Amino acid sequence: GRGSDLAGTRVLISAGGTREPLDPVRYLGNHSSGRQGVALAKAALARGGQVTLVGANLEVPPPDGISLVPVSSAAELAEAMLREAAQADIVIMSAAVADYRPASVETTKIKKTSANEELTLRLVRNPDILRSLVQARSDRSVTDQVIVGFAAETGDADGTVLDHARKKFEAKGCDLLVVNKVGTGVGFGTDGNRVDILARRRPGGEPEVIGSADGSKLAVSHAVIDALGVLR
Ligand code: C5P
Repeated sequence: GRGSDLAGTRVLISAGGTREPLDPVRYLGNHSSGRQGVALAKAALARGGQVTLVGANLEVPPPDGISLVPVSSAAELAEAMLREAAQADIVIMSAAVADYRPASVETTKIKKTSANEELTLRLVRNPDILRSLVQARSDRSVTDQVIVGFAAETGDADGTVLDHARKKFEAKGCDLLVVNKVGTGVGFGTDGNRVDILARRRPGGEPEVIGSADGSKLAVSHAVIDALGVLR
C-alpha cells in the first residue's frame, strides 16, 4: 500500500466545472461533474494528506475530513485557488475552467422580444488559473511547491495527442500534466478514466510520459499521486 506518504503534506485540489453567469438565472457551463477532482481528494486524504478542495458546482459529494471551499465562476475559482495556494505543498488543477465568460452580466433576466429573433453574446477570455498559479509561485520564490495540470484531449487518430500535451506542458509551466483522453467512453460523468502523466525526469529535461493509468477515477488519482513521488 501507499501508507501515509502524504502525511503532513498540504494538498490543494480544484474540481468540477465553472459556471459563467449571463444574467440572474442563466449561465454558460460545461459537463464536468467533479468526479475526478473528488477522487483525487479521497486518494490524497487516504494517504494522510491535509486536503483543501475548491469545488465548482460539484455533482458528487466530497469526502468528510477535508476543507471544502465552494465556488461557481472562473473568477471565484481563481480567487480561491490563488489564496489557498499560498499554504499548499501540492496544487492540482483538475477543474474544467471556462475559457470565456460573458463580457457583461445583465442585472435582470435577458428577455426574448419579437425584435430579438437573434441574440449575440459577447464573450471575453478568462485568465488561465493554472498559469497564474505557476506565476504566483515564482513571484513568491517558492521552490518546493508542486503544481499539477490536467489536459483533456480528444482523438488520437493522427497520433498528435502527446505532441499537443507536450506543448501544453511547456505553455502552462506546471510540473506534471495529466493527459486525459476524452470522447472514448471515458472522461466526463463516468467513473473511468485513461490518462498519461507527463513530467520532466530532471530539471531542464524534455517532458516525457512518466506514468499511465486506465481504470476508476480513484485508481487514476492514486497513479497521479504516485507520479508526484518522482518529483518530490
Ligand atoms: O488550456 P486547457 O484548458 O487545455 O488547459 C487545461 C488545464 O488548465 C487544466 O488543468 C485546467 O484546470 C487549467 N485551466 C485553468 N484556467 C483556464 C483554463 C484552463 O487553470 N482558464
